[in-house]
Amino acid sequence: MTVPWVVKYRPKRLNEVVGNKRAKESLLNWLRAFKQGKAKRKAALLYGPPGTGKTVTVEALARELGYDLIEINASDKRNSEELMRIAGAAASQGQLFGKKRLILLDEIDGINMEEDRGAIQAVNKIIGESHYPVVLTANDPWNPKISPLRNACELIQFKRLSARDCLPYIKQICLKEGIKAEEDALKFLIEKNERDMRSIINDLQALSIGRKELRIEDASWLSYRDRKESIFTALSMVFSGRNCAVARKAVDLSEADYEMLFEWIYENAPRQLTDPKDLYDAMEALAKSNLYFARIKKNQAWNLLPFALDLMTIGVCSSRKRSKPRFTPFKFPERIKYLSQTRLERGVKERVARAIGRACHASVRESVRSYLPYVKFIFKHNPRLAGKIAEELEFDKEMVDFLKR
Ligand SMILES: Nc1ncnc2c1ncn2[C@@H]1O[C@H](COP(=O)(O)OP(=O)(O)O)[C@@H](O)[C@H]1O
Ligand SMILES: [Mg+2]
Repeated sequence: MTVPWVVKYRPKRLNEVVGNKRAKESLLNWLRAFKQGKAKRKAALLYGPPGTGKTVTVEALARELGYDLIEINASDKRNSEELMRIAGAAASQGQLFGKKRLILLDEIDGINMEEDRGAIQAVNKIIGESHYPVVLTANDPWNPKISPLRNACELIQFKRLSARDCLPYIKQICLKEGIKAEEDALKFLIEKNERDMRSIINDLQALSIGRKELRIEDASWLSYRDRKESIFTALSMVFSGRNCAVARKAVDLSEADYEMLFEWIYENAPRQLTDPKDLYDAMEALAKSNLYFARIKKNQAWNLLPFALDLMTIGVCSSRKRSKPRFTPFKFPERIKYLSQTRLERGVKERVARAIGRACHASVRESVRSYLPYVKFIFKHNPRLAGKIAEELEFDKEMVDFLKR
């Protein structure tokens, strides 16, 4: 049986867990304070996107500092009674062979509240009664489900990893597995998975079955099945395709949304083609393509479509002569982002302003002008206070997301 690489290469020591230096230090400091009886809070909540190393950090830390780790995955189907039984016992019983204990309640926001109503209270009770440090993990600290726990917890944020953190780590894995991988292929994998280390490693393993070499084309075809990612695949075919046929195929992946594909290529061309002459040629091809599109639209001249498509794919692909292959994450077209954001934002913004206005006795306009900037600042920099405000004013997730942006 093949061992999943996420298990095989699971970091054993704290210094093998890449990135999030500050979070790791905060956790260490909190544990030290706890040990000396000086910790302000009895539990720590590690929060952040998946695959950033929350769980492995706790495991590695326990191993290094000689704690017995009692780990419960809260989103497993265990109900509150079982949570109580296991963690409650662990929290209150004497030490086993005098060893220190650390309790990890993993993925606390995965608890199914419908089926498991008592779970959060159970967790709260564990924190209250435990003689040992308790660490919780969650993706979203704003989740109303876990709001009763937030006040008891030291909040520690795990940020999305950077590509710079991910790359050396997966290169190391390739080396150990004897895989020769193009750097671009690895970088593609990293971005495609939004720098979620777990998914990156899983994808890498899936791609490496029966292969000892990994090229960008191999990697990009992986997401062919994955509709959502198809635009990224299409773009790498246009910008890094080995030949015109590959570049032209990008069109098939764009789900017939040619104008959207055009925007993406246009936005990313300057970032991908670093040589000015290359960029000039690409822009010329794009300008012509744009002209064809305009004519098609105006005169319904569909016979021009193949030219428009060839120009924006093959035209751009063949412009790359001197630009070195260079990895930069693909960027969402500004124009489209701006349009869709303003449309969506207006609605949310108004709802937020209305809620603030109700609390502060201000009009919507007044609260946009005088309160909103401060509330936004708080949401960016002070999660604890933000949590209180969100609760008090009953913000929903969309409103919170808007304020954090
Ligand atoms: N920062 C990291 N450094 C090294 N490997 C990581 C890191 N984050 C995640 N991983 C890999 O992903 C897998 C899942 O990590 P995990 O700690 O459960 O992430 P999280 O709890 O943040 O979702 C681990 O087995 C490990 O292989
Ligand atoms: Mg985890």
